[in-house]
Amino acid sequence: MSDPIYAEPRTVEDASDCFFYHTMEIPGVGLVEGTFDLRESLDDYFGAVDFEGKRVIEVGPASGYLTFSMEARGADVVVIETSEEFTWDAVPYDLPLLETWGTELLPYMQKLRNSFWFTHRRLNSKARVHYGSGYSLPDELGRFDVGLMSCVLLHTRDPLAIIRNCAALVDERLVIIDIYNEELDQSGIPAMTFCPRRDNEMVHTWWHLSPAMLREYAAILGFEEVHFSRHVQRFAPVQGGETEPQEQFTMVLERKRPWRPIPRRS
Ligand SMILES: C[S@@+](CC[C@H](N)C(=O)[O-])C[C@H]1O[C@@H](n2cnc3c(N)ncnc32)[C@H](O)[C@@H]1O
Repeated sequence: MSDPIYAEPRTVEDASDCFFYHTMEIPGVGLVEGTFDLRESLDDYFGAVDFEGKRVIEVGPASGYLTFSMEARGADVVVIETSEEFTWDAVPYDLPLLETWGTELLPYMQKLRNSFWFTHRRLNSKARVHYGSGYSLPDELGRFDVGLMSCVLLHTRDPLAIIRNCAALVDERLVIIDIYNEELDQSGIPAMTFCPRRDNEMVHTWWHLSPAMLREYAAILGFEEVHFSRHVQRFAPVQGGETEPQEQFTMVLERKRPWRPIPRRS
């Protein structure tokens, strides 16, 4: 009998049932083109963290390129992906914008989850999936050496809760990768910039997080920065189309002192 906190692996036969967020080489299929191609600078992307023998929790894997890459480097990975019940934190614009986004999101998310399982099977991956949300990480998931949150925090209303929840389960390192906002970083202010505007109708992105804020918050949670780097990734707004650069950062935080979370209220 399967463990109820982990999803039963799904069989997805057809690539056309998938949306590939990541460009990946898949055995028996070849190269699939996704929105982001992270293959060239993966060491930088991971902040040179050694995953050999590590138990890793990854929040928000999308098609799983980072999952499978950490696994290939010797990690035992558990991913937390949104369930059918909990999708994304949409910015609460009024209808019909939200309605359109919601209608488009559900089939997109199903295809995104399919892309993970499609690749998982063909790579013989042992990575386990917990469907739920970074807002609620059950203690039954156990302890982890490393927690990875890559390009997920900007999409969540309460990124601090997700970092906290991850930190509560992690004994060694947190790896945070997110969009780099130069103006915010140069200000040195420990802050988050609120991105949505009525005019830009940005439904899926809430925040740019300042490195200064992450350092301060991490210190509160018992972690200290050991690595910070900036890197440019290319993404294709339309799959298979022209790519655009996106500046990102990787911050690696190491646990320096034990920290006991107060019980969660939600
Ligand atoms: C922009 S993709 C990033 C994918 C991958 N981590 C990367 O950096 O290439 C965001 C991912 O986070 C997931 N996600 C969004 N909100 C989440 C939440 N509250 N808890 C867990 N995952 C979430 C999305 O479904 C998606 O898989």
